[in-house]
Amino acid sequence: MTAIELKNVDKYYGQGIARVHVLSDVNFLAELGQLNLVIGPSGSGKSTFLTIAGGLQQPSKGEVWIDGQDIATLKGKERDRLRLDKIGFVLQSYNLLPYLSVADQFALVDRMRKGNLSQEALNTLLVDLGIDQLVNKYPGELSGGQNQRVAIARALYTDPQIILADEPTAALDSARVKVVGQLFHDLAVKHNKAVVVVTHDLRLREFADQVYTIIDGKMTKED
Ligand SMILES: Nc1ncnc2c1ncn2[C@@H]1O[C@H](COP(=O)(O)OP(=O)(O)OP(=O)(O)O)[C@@H](O)[C@H]1O
Ligand SMILES: [Mg+2]
Repeated sequence: MTAIELKNVDKYYGQGIARVHVLSDVNFLAELGQLNLVIGPSGSGKSTFLTIAGGLQQPSKGEVWIDGQDIATLKGKERDRLRLDKIGFVLQSYNLLPYLSVADQFALVDRMRKGNLSQEALNTLLVDLGIDQLVNKYPGELSGGQNQRVAIARALYTDPQIILADEPTAALDSARVKVVGQLFHDLAVKHNKAVVVVTHDLRLREFADQVYTIIDGKMTKED
């Protein structure tokens, strides 16, 4: 089943002579049960693509469908709800709250929605990611790679149908890259989720079902 579809999407930033064309006629399809990798160099439009695919910002042209709905037809609150219930975001900036401990990052999610992972399932996830000993620490006390793994765990905590991850392995060593690659692959293949990872990390290739390349805002699918 189709989880996310972009149809002829263009994105411009800025106005007049400052206008830059960042995405150019992007067509993209993410199915449940597959890990889609979008590989591209810095500045190629990966984060722009991912935030548009997740409804965090609007395209200048074209359509974005999430879970069978054209998101342009949704009101702001409906779109927020769709995102909260269906999508787990791992953003490039991690988006952890500096004044909350690791445990409280999850407690905050519990205040926003019900039906999140059980304490037991969360513990298993934290152990798999090697961060179970860090629950009482604050983001400022953690390394980049530790924060990155907390951000991954938080995105997965809602058990979302769709997982969108922006450079989720940028701060990780090769052993951790394998753990995260395998985790995302299993979420797609064993748990039937749609996973989209944008990255320039070629180490993730072996875990992907579909590979797209993005260069200067133009996306192509590899056979
Ligand atoms: N809010 C914005 N306003 C203007 N230009 C922007 C904005 N966000 C991004 N850009 C520009 O759009 C282009 C694509 O940026 P984007 O962040 O999508 O690239 P990226 O592939 O994610 O890069 P990186 O690998 O460095 O994270 C860049 O040239 C960037 O400078
Ligand atoms: Mg980026």
